[in-house]
Amino acid sequence: MKKLEAIIPEDKLDAVFNSLIQLDIGGFTYFTVKGRGKRPRQMVSSGRGGRFESAYNVNASIIVVVPDSKVDNVVDAITSNASTGLAGEGKIFIYNVDDAVDIGTKKRGESSL
Ligand SMILES: Nc1ncnc2c1ncn2[C@@H]1O[C@H](COP(=O)(O)OP(=O)(O)OP(=O)(O)O)[C@@H](O)[C@H]1O
Ligand SMILES: [Mg+2]
Repeated sequence: MKKLEAIIPEDKLDAVFNSLIQLDIGGFTYFTVKGRGKRPRQMVSSGRGGRFESAYNVNASIIVVVPDSKVDNVVDAITSNASTGLAGEGKIFIYNVDDAVDIGTKKRGESSL
């Protein structure tokens, strides 16, 4: 099993969400994250016509745990919906997962997903 942790622009979340639910995967989790890449930070309107540099970029983070055989499908679903080819469109980090437990049934490993 692998865990994919993607950081994507928040405005791409709906498209990625709709693509992920087409895949035969157990589920996914997302949350709002703040961070910083190499680029200058986002300019934000102050509401009084002024603009200032925000401390962080606000993005969406998605976590998906899948069997190894589905990693490429998930990567494709994310990149094809979140990438326009520009810099600063985020990252996908991929980790090995030792085990997982479905709390209700106590199933372990891939059958828990
Ligand atoms: N190495 C990293 N480790 C953890 N989080 C990261 C890393 N790189 C980027 N991020 C996260 O991803 C967000 C987008 O960063 P991204 O790397 O896409 O932008 P960039 O560095 O400005 O451009 P690029 O890397 O495409 O040239 C950041 O705000 C941060 O939250
Ligand atoms: Mg970067």
